[in-house]
Amino acid sequence: MHIIAIASGKGGVGKTTTAHTLSWILSEKLNVLMLDLDPQCSLTACCNLTDVEGTIVDVLATPSKISAAQAIRPLNKKLSILPSSPELASIELSLSAKISRETVIKRMLATVTGYDVCVMDCSPSTGLLVLNALTAANGVILPVVPEAMNLYALRSFLDVLDEIRATVNPNLQTIGTVVNFYNARSIHHQQALAEINRADIPVLGTVGRTIRIAEAVAAHEPITVYEASNDRSVEYKAVAKKVIEWLEKHN
Ligand SMILES: Nc1ncnc2c1ncn2[C@@H]1O[C@H](COP(=O)(O)OP(=O)(O)OP(=O)(O)O)[C@@H](O)[C@H]1O
Ligand SMILES: [Mg+2]
Repeated sequence: MHIIAIASGKGGVGKTTTAHTLSWILSEKLNVLMLDLDPQCSLTACCNLTDVEGTIVDVLATPSKISAAQAIRPLNKKLSILPSSPELASIELSLSAKISRETVIKRMLATVTGYDVCVMDCSPSTGLLVLNALTAANGVILPVVPEAMNLYALRSFLDVLDEIRATVNPNLQTIGTVVNFYNARSIHHQQALAEINRADIPVLGTVGRTIRIAEAVAAHEPITVYEASNDRSVEYKAVAKKVIEWLEKHN
């Protein structure tokens, strides 16, 4: 199983939207498991699964009572989610006392079978859960907003990825960035995009801003299902095409 982390040190850049939308598109061809690793539970909420029993929290807190496979919920034939709950924040604190604390998620995912790819939605931090996600992953996708302050955060996050490669996960590859909220008419955005292109990491695509993305979340659908003809849907499909190429190349 390929394991992809959607991560960024910055909040509100489109991690959850990318995880949700990409997973739906990938599930047209592949068996996809979404893993919500954020105590904010945004991905779980996108799937209309808040207040469910049996989440990643239960799997991590009482593994003898519930396995990851038991907590996974099918959304359709080829798409499932292992949901989160707000208590994940306290589980993250308790991880620090565990032996091999950065491999907890990797070991949990090793017990899961039947999926071609797992897409993990990370919280906007470099805490232990994100460290776990990056230790388990063989690829990472970095949503970024094309603005100066976000580029600074991107540079420091790339340093974190280098550190992960040098220590716990030499196999971690950067699949690329998704440049979100991109406004092609903004000179600042154009300059930021040029700078990202110079950073020696693939740009998987740009996604413009639309209120339809928020509307789609309210309907518990990704934009690609909610309004397939929307320009943002077309842009996300182009991103997914590059991710599929990456998956095929690394099979
Ligand atoms: N291209 C877009 N156009 C308009 N709104 C968007 C777009 N992408 C994301 N959003 C909206 O912006 C908000 C933040 O997006 P999202 O939750 O995906 O970011 P995030 O990086 O996961 O945030 P966090 O760091 O808090 O987890 C959400 O309300 C989402 O619906
Ligand atoms: Mg999020």
